[in-house]
Amino acid sequence: MNQLVLVLDFGGQYKELIARTVRGLSVCSEIHPGTIPLEEIRLKNPIGIILTGGPDSAYRPDSPKCDKELFNIGVPVLGICYGMQMMCHMLGGMVESGKEGEYGCVQVTPNSKSELFKKIEAPFAGLMSHRDAVTCLPPGFAETASTDVCAAACENTEKKLYCVQFHPESNHTEKGSDILRNFLFNICGAVGDYKLEDYIDIQIQQIRQTAGHAKVLLGLSGGVDSSVCAALLSKAIPGQLVCIFVDHGLMRLNEGDEIESAFSKRDLRFIRVNAQKRFLSKLSGVTDPETKRKIVGSEFINVFTEEADKLGNITFFAQGTIYPDIVESGGGYGATIKSHHNVGGLPEVLGFSKIIEPLSNLFKDEVRVLGQKLGLTPELVNRQPFPGPGLAIRIVGEITREKLDLLRHADAIVRHEIGKLKSKPDQYFALLTDTLSVGVKGDERTYDPVIAVRAVETDDFMTCDYAAVPHEALKRISSRITNEIPGISRVVYDITSKPPATVEWE
Ligand code: XMP
Repeated sequence: MNQLVLVLDFGGQYKELIARTVRGLSVCSEIHPGTIPLEEIRLKNPIGIILTGGPDSAYRPDSPKCDKELFNIGVPVLGICYGMQMMCHMLGGMVESGKEGEYGCVQVTPNSKSELFKKIEAPFAGLMSHRDAVTCLPPGFAETASTDVCAAACENTEKKLYCVQFHPESNHTEKGSDILRNFLFNICGAVGDYKLEDYIDIQIQQIRQTAGHAKVLLGLSGGVDSSVCAALLSKAIPGQLVCIFVDHGLMRLNEGDEIESAFSKRDLRFIRVNAQKRFLSKLSGVTDPETKRKIVGSEFINVFTEEADKLGNITFFAQGTIYPDIVESGGGYGATIKSHHNVGGLPEVLGFSKIIEPLSNLFKDEVRVLGQKLGLTPELVNRQPFPGPGLAIRIVGEITREKLDLLRHADAIVRHEIGKLKSKPDQYFALLTDTLSVGVKGDERTYDPVIAVRAVETDDFMTCDYAAVPHEALKRISSRITNEIPGISRVVYDITSKPPATVEWE
């Protein structure tokens, strides 16, 4: 059994980030509602408890509160933001709405005597997002850090209670993970006995318990998440997993075959549906981006449903939903700008109510590590994000087989050349514009399409900067594309950030 830290949720947006940072420090963590009964907490025998932030005001009678006894059981507790205010309020301190809030990075001056700030003597930038603040500490507490406006941290060492007003889990807070490390290792006595492999074992047990001997259906797109999900399920329930991979013909060069070969050796049933012709004919003559997206999305569901029907009764549907998908589906910005198509919405369409989502607690980088541990190739595991509608939205205007071939070739060159760089952008690809431009090859005048290269740097794809790809690499890309692909006259580089542009052109 691993040592365990409980993250009690009071509605803050960062609860998963806290849990993930704790896991990143090799300590197992679980998230539970802030109102979890004390008895359940005792049964879990945690070495520490973290109270998350949240949108409420601790002094309101109806705001969420933990069991007050939690502060007396001798287990170290760290309250973050609302967690700090709630703890201080419940233990007899005063929390009030400030005249001005603190939003963004603020200078925090620590008191080096605190174990929480051990080896963090100098003032540092802490991410703050609050208007309420602790204005009078509870009896037995001492202030351990401050900003110009508020008590940024306090503690009662005798009772092992610690509070911070800023967010140590955010990478905008300098030394944030050192502060959490101090809490875990110096205060809670963590030994760092958690490895990501443990996640595999825990999930395998859970999947076996849930699925029993039933068959499980998975829509495999070949992206990182669904691939890792397939690898995990095939290990947990060998022989019970059926994967449907719809090849819509809008994949990158050789991608369909790579996906097939990656899964053909695993203990699962792999069904590849070659639906290229169907998709091309539905898309024929269509130029509007949203219409293209909708056509690919609905045709995908048609093909998938037909195949699932052929299989007969299947009880469970699995999907590779990861934690950021859950956050984004809460009315994300992307959805209103573009209708994103993913394999994800399928269970409702197919009428499945029993869904298995073994990756839903993880972030992308954790999923990649898990994939490697499960024996997937680095190429598959480090695959860049690729939109569900595929190359349909990377060909501006009408889609034809010839244009798809041109783009696949150009895109392979872009990915190869940028892929060789030491520092790679987060996403990089080619797209085919609908602009023709005059060129000269040999003594001949040409009048051919223009390829655009897109490369972006981002943390979350909600906003992006265009990547400063070295000129040498751009030069090689341009020279290779115009020399190796007849029918391309010119290569341009997209230097627009998001916003105002989006990553994809359509
Ligand atoms: P945009 O173009 O919205 O892209 O700035 C942000 C990120 O999302 C990817 N993208 C999609 N992913 N289905 C997906 O699964 C889609 O329909 C879709 N459209 C865009 C895009 O490649 C980038 O990584």
